[in-house]
Amino acid sequence: MHGLEREVERNARPAGVDECGAPREGETRTLDIEGFASLLGITPESVPARCREIIHAADFDYEVLGGRARDAIVLGVLQALEGDLSVAGPARIEAWENGWGDVLARFEASGGRPEELWPHYLRPERRIVRLDGEYVRPKAGTFEADFVRVMQAWFSETFLRDVRSVYEFGCGPGHNLVAFAQSRPDRSYTGLDWATASQKVLAKVSSTLDLDIAGRRFDMLHPDTSCAVAPDAGIVTFGALEQLGTSFGPMLDYLRAANPAMCVHLEPVHELYDPESLFDFVAARYAEKRGYLRGYLSELRALEQRGQVEILHVKKHLGSLYHDGWVSLAWRPRRGS
Ligand SMILES: C[S@@+](CC[C@H](N)C(=O)[O-])C[C@H]1O[C@@H](n2cnc3c(N)ncnc32)[C@H](O)[C@@H]1O
Repeated sequence: MHGLEREVERNARPAGVDECGAPREGETRTLDIEGFASLLGITPESVPARCREIIHAADFDYEVLGGRARDAIVLGVLQALEGDLSVAGPARIEAWENGWGDVLARFEASGGRPEELWPHYLRPERRIVRLDGEYVRPKAGTFEADFVRVMQAWFSETFLRDVRSVYEFGCGPGHNLVAFAQSRPDRSYTGLDWATASQKVLAKVSSTLDLDIAGRRFDMLHPDTSCAVAPDAGIVTFGALEQLGTSFGPMLDYLRAANPAMCVHLEPVHELYDPESLFDFVAARYAEKRGYLRGYLSELRALEQRGQVEILHVKKHLGSLYHDGWVSLAWRPRRGS
């Protein structure tokens, strides 16, 4: 448990009724099919069967943290903002090489267990998360990873349903591609990342698990325009454009020129923070300090105004303790524009 979470634990009070109608401190809730439908911005009937299976099998109970516990969290976030935080960008490549090198060693040592591919930031731990304007403490350590599993299935069954090939940029150890390939082996998959350790993991994964996943080195800050994607491909990113800060222009140009059937992202979207809300204010400052994605949605909206792209979906879902990293965004180039 982190220092901040220990502090929250000390300050948490037993459940009590809030006469103002605010969430009761310590109240337990669950994300069920209806909860997920509202989180995804769809009707309960449109939640795909595969998502339902994951939701039913997982433990999505959580406790809402209010009062002094919430104060302690905000204080901790403000204190973190005053400290040294690593900033996304070229200086971080070594950290990614090391991280995915560790994942490869773990995957090999386990004899090829797909669960070992999950990155450190999604491994089971009872982290406090941001959900629907609240800080909440999940009952299970797998809450965030199970949420990502639901999103993988949702992307696969909806936005990517009809594509024949999927390219994930900034794919890291490839756990999203493995989930896609296991549920839809009829498509081909390519994982691209600037860290060479990612390609080593993918080579091991495709041979061990017998999945059609290829790895390719690719720097999103300096996209190689000779790296073509198949016609009518689906392009996905999960927490990868995040790393580009405001330097996403060349990558967006590359994506548009690639002319995919669909682009779908699970990324932080800075424009969705409400500057009038303390809850959003601290998260926005955190994202700025880490150098996370900023301006991408505004640029897509400007392109849409000019008739060059079509935005199909934007919805904020969930965040870690510090910021909202999980916003889904789907768009496609307008053909012939
Ligand atoms: C937060 S991780 C996300 C990994 C994976 N998509 C996931 O869902 O866990 C960010 C990934 O982006 C990659 N990355 C960061 N900057 C990049 C760049 N300029 N070009 C290509 N990959 C980059 C990192 O190597 C890392 O694998």
